[in-house]
Amino acid sequence: MNTHASWPVAELHVHIEGTLETELLVTLARRNGVELPSYDPDALRELYRFTDLQSFLDIYYANLAVLRTEADFYDLGIAYLTRATAAGVRRAEIFFDPQTHLANGIPLDVVFAGLTRALTEARATLGISADLILCFLRHLGGAAALETLDAAIPYLDQFIGVGLDSAEVGFPPSLFTEVFAKAGALGLHRVAHAGEEGGPDYVHEALDLLGVERVDHGIRAIEDPHLIEHLRERQIPLTVCPLSNVCLRAVPELGVHPLPAMLAEGLLVTISSDDPAYFGGYVDDNLNAVQNEFALSPLQMATLARNSFRASFLPEAEKLRQI
Ligand code: ADE
Ligand code: ZN
Repeated sequence: MNTHASWPVAELHVHIEGTLETELLVTLARRNGVELPSYDPDALRELYRFTDLQSFLDIYYANLAVLRTEADFYDLGIAYLTRATAAGVRRAEIFFDPQTHLANGIPLDVVFAGLTRALTEARATLGISADLILCFLRHLGGAAALETLDAAIPYLDQFIGVGLDSAEVGFPPSLFTEVFAKAGALGLHRVAHAGEEGGPDYVHEALDLLGVERVDHGIRAIEDPHLIEHLRERQIPLTVCPLSNVCLRAVPELGVHPLPAMLAEGLLVTISSDDPAYFGGYVDDNLNAVQNEFALSPLQMATLARNSFRASFLPEAEKLRQI
């Protein structure tokens, strides 16, 4: 039964690079003369069978070679914002991975110009509130993250926070204390992926060493009663992405996802899509999936929607208006 009616929500965990649908991938590959394994969008989608986070990241990073110009980043941004608005998203806090594009020879100027133009236009034409969060790639280490933050300082008016993503296990938050301290001193919000594949200790480190305000994924926090208590008492938001967790086998199937247990523990859980072009669904699809799988009540669905605004970086007055 599908009873979800596109509640207004904030989407707090979405990678703009992960919204690159195969149709746009093919268009950009042709536009820029970039080779792909196939030029058939359906055939490309068929390749999206993942066994873990790394198996996804390998394809995801390879596909990003098609993003070369300001117009490419604009097209990517406006496509997501249009689809998200249709999904009920009223506020989007959007990750982007500048180090990937720098490694492909694309200057920061190009990335910011295209994404910022998309956000500005979407605010005006779609009425969606949206901001960017700059993510550091953990597999490149702390020194590279610091270099990236320094290079992004001229663009401080174009992003509201920093995040931490890419391969988790083996790249703990403790490697990034310096760059997160500097980001905090610059007045930026701080979030980090933790407890997706890594254990509860990664969540502890993200909170204690990086000072994050939200935890992205955080599903493995459920294994640690003390951590649960800490997250509940402080109402630290967890941006949970159920379809992503199934596709990347962080959980064996949706039916055993810890979401119901997290809600029962009184955690501030929100639902997001992560990389919707790869995991078979935008935020509305994720909400539908959990509502159907766990027979969530209208009250529980309303709690998830309200949590998303509570957990957002909107000013308090604006949060109250949305809730
Ligand atoms: N980059 C894009 N999606 C990601 C995820 N789910 N985990 C870590 N890094 C990512
Ligand atoms: Zn993510």
